[in-house]
Amino acid sequence: MNILLTGGAGYIGSHTCVMLLEQGHDVIVVDNLCNSKVESLKRVEKITGKKIPFYQKDLCNLPSINEIFTQNSIDAVIHFAGLKSVAESVDQPLTYYQNNIDGTLVLCEAMQAHGVKHLVFSSSATVYGNPETVPIDENAPVGAFNPYGRSKLFIEEILSDLYVSDKSWNIALLRYFNPVGAHFSGLIGEDPFGRPNNLMPYVSQVAVGKLPELMVYGDDYDTPDGTGVRDYIHVMDLAKGHLKALEKLTSDPGLVIYNQGTGKGYSVLEMVTAFEKAAGKKIPYKIVGRRPGDIPTCYADPSSAEKELGWTALGY
Ligand code: NAD
Ligand code: UD1
Repeated sequence: MNILLTGGAGYIGSHTCVMLLEQGHDVIVVDNLCNSKVESLKRVEKITGKKIPFYQKDLCNLPSINEIFTQNSIDAVIHFAGLKSVAESVDQPLTYYQNNIDGTLVLCEAMQAHGVKHLVFSSSATVYGNPETVPIDENAPVGAFNPYGRSKLFIEEILSDLYVSDKSWNIALLRYFNPVGAHFSGLIGEDPFGRPNNLMPYVSQVAVGKLPELMVYGDDYDTPDGTGVRDYIHVMDLAKGHLKALEKLTSDPGLVIYNQGTGKGYSVLEMVTAFEKAAGKKIPYKIVGRRPGDIPTCYADPSSAEKELGWTALGY
């Protein structure tokens, strides 16, 4: 297949490029580089020995996006492009709604105009809000606490409405839990601009001495060691999930929703200890207050993806 990746220069997109190219697909990337560097695609080319047609364009610009569809024969789209910082979304809600929602609307309009109807969308476990029970399956109630989460929820609704209006669309909503890790070559990985918000990039920057110590946000949660529990999924497992979802779309499933998680939850302190063991290095940390908006525990029931996609997280 010839697959367009929006936001393909970013963390998850670049790893998915590698997976798709290695499985014999062709990829085209559109990214405005607002949170990534073109270097990541150069490194994907180095890993795979294949060239990636790249368009540095903003997804919100319809003429630019239409041009990409006119110039290329595209079979399917994986839509990663979006802004993803919860804290920033609280400070700049309009920017988040404009970029994430408008970008999706423009993309769908261009896809519709060019008869491209296979779409995989990067959703998030954030749409489950504070879950009533764990593990969380896809039928759990949804609800978001912040503009970032709401933008994901709104996009899920928009894509569902689109499908209801025209059943020839095939759409997979992938709800990612906590992506971590890097391609084994070490050539690509997570390299956030500015101070990381997420746990593992923060720990990595402490490990290399870029940041002095980790702040652990709360040790008084109702969890085994009091720190937050999450479902950390290796980014190459997630990349494989996209490949499996694309294969599913070609069998005409309509609109499908899958969790992308491992089904296991680990605490912040367990992650720190595991990192220390793997890196052979101490990670200094101090316990501070809870981060506003954080939930105690979140991990997936990944059995739908297992049954319907034949996909499980291997841990790489
Ligand atoms: P990322 O920031 O590394 O990648 C997103 C890419 O989209 C970046 O390269 C950025 O430059 C690009 N982009 C943003 N707005 C754009 C626009 N208007 N036009 C063109 N390009 C644009 O983030 P990521 O971690 O790879 O996440 C990919 C997707 O997965 C995002 O939609 C994110 O919300 C979602 N997601 C990520 C996580 C996570 O923890 N990483 C968890 C759940 C969901
Ligand atoms: C966060 C977002 C969520 C988003 C997800 C993936 C918030 C409130 N939630 O989820 O919407 O979908 O990232 O991008 O921001 N932790 C520390 N110290 C740190 C960083 C994190 O102790 O410096 C803890 C957190 O309290 C949490 C765990 O580590 O218990 C994981 O945090 P993080 O990586 O930010 O992911 P989420 O909170 O699950």
